[in-house]
Amino acid sequence: MYHKILSALFLHLKGGGTIREITEAEFSKLVGFIKQNYGINLLQKKTLVHGRLSNYIAQSGFISFSEYFSYVENDPTGKAGVTLINKLTTNHTYFLREPQHFKFLERVALPQFAATEHATKDLRVWSAGCSTGEEPYTLAMMIDSFFGTEKYRWDTKVLATDISTSVLETAKNAIYPTQQLELLPDSWRVKYFRKINVEASVLTEAIRREVIFRRFNLMNEIFPFKKKFHLILCRNVMIYFDAETKRELINKFYEHMEPGGYLFVGHSESVNRYESKYQFVAPAVYRKV
Ligand SMILES: C[S@@+](CC[C@H](N)C(=O)[O-])C[C@H]1O[C@@H](n2cnc3c(N)ncnc32)[C@H](O)[C@@H]1O
Repeated sequence: MYHKILSALFLHLKGGGTIREITEAEFSKLVGFIKQNYGINLLQKKTLVHGRLSNYIAQSGFISFSEYFSYVENDPTGKAGVTLINKLTTNHTYFLREPQHFKFLERVALPQFAATEHATKDLRVWSAGCSTGEEPYTLAMMIDSFFGTEKYRWDTKVLATDISTSVLETAKNAIYPTQQLELLPDSWRVKYFRKINVEASVLTEAIRREVIFRRFNLMNEIFPFKKKFHLILCRNVMIYFDAETKRELINKFYEHMEPGGYLFVGHSESVNRYESKYQFVAPAVYRKV
């Protein structure tokens, strides 16, 4: 371990080393490891894998991908695996992405839940694959603005999970480039953000408190949730999974959903109606009846 740190330091001082191209055998080992542990299929992504890992591996003092993988596989702390997945996930997201979902939420789903959950006032929402937080915070702002002065009577906390620890750190900080807020309604920008400087704004404490961030691997056998959800968003996450992994995950979402609840997937994704009990409601919106 120490020799790796020393050699990394040495290479860093020298300006970093280079390693040879990833071989077919190394690539297929990495693809297998990531698929088995995180569900993500990188088979067609050799250039991406090489691009995202080669500098890091060289600068860490490894001489080949093989040497690096054996370090990841044998790291008893599991931290090396976390760094690897942080580097390989694609985390692109933004506020109010796929606005049709939020229109549906405002016009159909929230009015429905406000009626059906009136007695308990407990609404459970999960943003699965939340990346840097724009999706769950959009949900929290939407819910707050929907309930208005009645919001304080309701428990509508949003659970937001991701496999990548680095995106979760960014999400918890809740600081975003001001330019990114342009897609939001003016009233939301004023009510839910505070300017830090010309370039950045931070979400108000009231909205931050509404979102609970946790690291969670969607490939986990056990979903450790005591209660079922009324709304699950798993958008632009399953595009990286193969058909079998996706089918199993959708069926797990179904098991963990209240009757009458909704699943939102990305608009480029779909749920095969022969493979799940979900009912199609609108593009990228499915319901448990
Ligand atoms: C492209 S982002 C989508 C963010 C947001 N849902 C949206 O639509 O804007 C995909 C996210 O899925 C996460 N992800 C990928 N595989 C995962 C897994 N097995 N478990 C949990 N999160 C995963 C990635 O880390 C990444 O942050």
